[in-house]
Amino acid sequence: MQFPVSRLLLALWLGLMSGVVVAQADPPGDPAAVKLGDDGYWRDKNGDPTYKIEKDGTVDFATFQGFRRFNSTCFVCHGPDGSGSSFAPALADSLKTMDYSTFAGVVVNGRKDFLNGQDKVMPSFGDNKNVTCYLNDIYVYLRARSTGALGRGRPPHHAQKTGQYGDNEDKCMADN
Ligand code: HEC
Repeated sequence: MQFPVSRLLLALWLGLMSGVVVAQADPPGDPAAVKLGDDGYWRDKNGDPTYKIEKDGTVDFATFQGFRRFNSTCFVCHGPDGSGSSFAPALADSLKTMDYSTFAGVVVNGRKDFLNGQDKVMPSFGDNKNVTCYLNDIYVYLRARSTGALGRGRPPHHAQKTGQYGDNEDKCMADN
């Protein structure tokens, strides 16, 4: 496990500048799915979104959706299947130590690596519903990649979309 030193320094620096004590982000913890939420997403024991993969390799619908969304929007910079590129980090590794709220914050707000003087920018996706309505999906997909529960490529089998999932999706896409 490694935590990029530049990020740690940045977090400390931002903490000092704002006078706020920076709490170390919690690692994501046990990914076991314990409960299906009303929104159609599986949750772990902490209530965070997680994946559910059956013994025969069938993935839950959100994980499959996450695979599709990741590989349509994020892979151009982060590499196919979250495996990284010379431009942006391997998210399959990042999620070993990054918790859900940190992940969501970076995707919604974006981030710029200005401490290293590099011109690498993680764009903000906060106003892109094709991303914000599928944040949980992308997260659970990458979480499954980070634990090794899911290999590279398209998951061979996936569960059908549930009514709860569909309702939640429709509501999110319709909201202004
Ligand atoms: C235009 C290129 C680009 C696209 C598209 C992009 N990212 Fe990024 N992303 C980056 C770069 C560059 C960084 C590293 C920024 C830094 O070092 O501060 C990054 C960092 C991140 C991080 C933090 C990783 C870490 O280890 O700290 C997350 C999480 C992330 N991106 C998620 C996503 C997701 C999810 C998508 C798709 C919805 C996406 N990104 C699309 C360029 C991109």
